[in-house]
Amino acid sequence: MPSLTATPDRELLVVPTTPAAVRVEQLTRVYAAGGQPVTALDGVQATFDRGTFTAVMGPSGSGKSTLLQTAAGLDRPSSGRVWIGDTELSGLSETKLTELRRTKVGFVFQAFNLIGALTVEENITLPLRLSGARPDRRWLAEVVERVDLGSRLRHRPAQLSGGQQQRVAIARALAMRPDVIFCDEPTGALDTQTAAEVLGLLRSTVDEHGQTVIMVTHDPVAASYADRVVVLADGRIVADLPQPGADRIAEQLASLGRRPRLSREG
Ligand SMILES: Nc1ncnc2c1ncn2[C@@H]1O[C@H](COP(=O)(O)OP(=O)(O)OP(=O)(O)O)[C@@H](O)[C@H]1O
Ligand SMILES: [Mg+2]
Repeated sequence: MPSLTATPDRELLVVPTTPAAVRVEQLTRVYAAGGQPVTALDGVQATFDRGTFTAVMGPSGSGKSTLLQTAAGLDRPSSGRVWIGDTELSGLSETKLTELRRTKVGFVFQAFNLIGALTVEENITLPLRLSGARPDRRWLAEVVERVDLGSRLRHRPAQLSGGQQQRVAIARALAMRPDVIFCDEPTGALDTQTAAEVLGLLRSTVDEHGQTVIMVTHDPVAASYADRVVVLADGRIVADLPQPGADRIAEQLASLGRRPRLSREG
């Protein structure tokens, strides 16, 4: 919806406002199964603008994966709201939610999650085939070129290096032209050089294609590819840093280690 802004000479300007790529409001996720309830997310509030690259960091168990999964519509929050673009997820039926996940978001995980029996090309086009969408050949060719796998399309995942497999997973995530790509430790299983390639690829999807990337990582160097670093601890955002360098990120994480642990009950 356009908003009205008063200029100093009291004229009114119409400023078009596009919705953020992803927005979460008072997001809470309590896991209740098996004894003591665990509050994985505790009132998280965040906006991820279109065409930006955000790293989500924080200690193990701080809620990073839970934030990604609830923000992406893979998991429903206990309370709070999530928007992807201008669609609010809580209002959606399971069918609509599945459709939104297939068309608007892409996922990349640490364990590439490729299907071993399928070729590279079949893995990349699998989401398209599942959704019944007609493959856009030109877009697919562009995606394959971006991940530099043109000569490997007929290979199976086991015949590829870790970095190449992750590039297949990224191509699969890009195949549907999603607005947002969620990555959970995408470089966790890769060596430094290969990780740099994958991060460069994610960076270029933001810079050259205006997509939005939200990436969980433990690695300050990986996080330094992002425009912004959000730090979680005990299910809450405890720092939100615009363009920190790897040193600043490492410092911030070290300071968390020195913090007294917050009570989950309180
Ligand atoms: N399915 C589940 N059932 C019960 N508790 C869960 C479940 N998934 C996560 N949790 C708990 O929620 C909290 C947050 O978990 P989450 O996986 O989001 O952490 P994380 O920050 O991604 O950690 P890591 O860096 O180790 O991947 C943890 O205490 C975890 O044990
Ligand atoms: Mg995790």
